[in-house]
Amino acid sequence: MLLDKEVDPSLDLFEEIKTLKKEKNVLLLAHYYQNNDIQDIADYIGDSLGLAQQAQKTNADIILFAGVHFMAETAKILNPTKKVLIPDLNAGCSLADSCPTDKFKEFKEKHPDHIIITYINCTAEIKALSDIICTSSNAVQIVESLPKDQKIIFAPDKNLGAYINKKTKRNMVLWDGTCMVHEIFSLEKLIKLKVQNPKAKIIAHPECEEAILEHADFIGSTTALLNYSKKSDDKEFIVLTETGILHQMQKASPNKTFIPAPPNNSCACNDCPYMKLNTLEKIYLSLKYEQPELVMNVDLMEKAKRPILKMLELSAKFGL
Ligand code: 13P
Ligand code: SF4
Repeated sequence: MLLDKEVDPSLDLFEEIKTLKKEKNVLLLAHYYQNNDIQDIADYIGDSLGLAQQAQKTNADIILFAGVHFMAETAKILNPTKKVLIPDLNAGCSLADSCPTDKFKEFKEKHPDHIIITYINCTAEIKALSDIICTSSNAVQIVESLPKDQKIIFAPDKNLGAYINKKTKRNMVLWDGTCMVHEIFSLEKLIKLKVQNPKAKIIAHPECEEAILEHADFIGSTTALLNYSKKSDDKEFIVLTETGILHQMQKASPNKTFIPAPPNNSCACNDCPYMKLNTLEKIYLSLKYEQPELVMNVDLMEKAKRPILKMLELSAKFGL
C-alpha cells in the first residue's frame, strides 16, 4: 500500500511534484472540490466536462487525476493509451454508489422505449448502459436537443433530474439517487444566513434539493457558479456547493465575499469526504511510484465510450 509509505517531512512537496511532473510528462488534473494546495499545483482545474475534455486531448504520458474514481475512469476511457493515476483508490462518490448496475438494468428493462441520459457521476458500467452522458454544464442543452415527445430516463441524480424537468418542461423518469454533499444543505440555516447577509446573492449547484434551489438567484455547474461570481457586480455570495470551489472564487475576485452555506449537521461547511481523500503527500507518492494505476476492462471501456463521445460531440456543437 502506497499510503503506508512515509513521506520525508523536510521535502518541499510542491517542488518534488513539479519535478516529477516534468520528468514523467504528466498532466495533473484537479476538480474544483480538491484542497487548495492541490488546486495550486494542478495543470488544469475544472468541472467534470472541462476535465473530460482535457483528458481526451492531452499528449502527456501520464494523467494524474486529483478527483474521484468516476472522473479518472472517464479520463481512461477517453484516452486509453495513457497511464491514469489516482492518488487514492477509495475516492469514490455517493451518487455513483446510489446506482448499482443490476438494479439499473432492471429499471432500464421496465422502460424499454426510453432514451437513457446519465449524469457523468456514475460508474463505467452504468455509462455502458446509457445512450448519452451529461454533466451539470450541458445537461439542460442535451435534454433540449431531443424531440419534446422523446421518453427519457435520467440517472442517477434525482435533484439534477428534477431541476432539468422543471427547466425544460419535460417529464423524464428519474433514478432515485443523490449526492451526500448537496442533499444536506440546511434550508433553515440558509434563510438565517440570508437574513444576516441581505445583499448576498445565493448561488447553488443543481445537485441541491428543490427546496434549496427555489431560493437561489443563480443555479449552475461549478464552472458556471465561478463564472457568475466573476462577472457579477454583486459583492457577496452565499455558495451552495462543496467548499473547494471557494478557493478559485476568492482568487478570481479578492474583493468579494464568499460565504459557504452550512449543512444540517454540526459542521460549518460542506466538504466531500471522497474528494478530500486526496492530499499532496498521496499525489507525490502516486507520481513517484506510478501507483495506484487505474486499470479497466477493454470491452467495458469501449461500451462506456460511445455515450461519453456523444456528450462531447453535442457539447462542441453547443460551443461548450
Ligand atoms: P461539476 O463540477 O461538473 O459541476 O460537478 C460537481 C460534482 O459534484 C462533481 O462531483
Ligand atoms: Fe460524488 Fe457528491 Fe462528492 Fe461529487 S460532491 S464526488 S457527486 S459525493
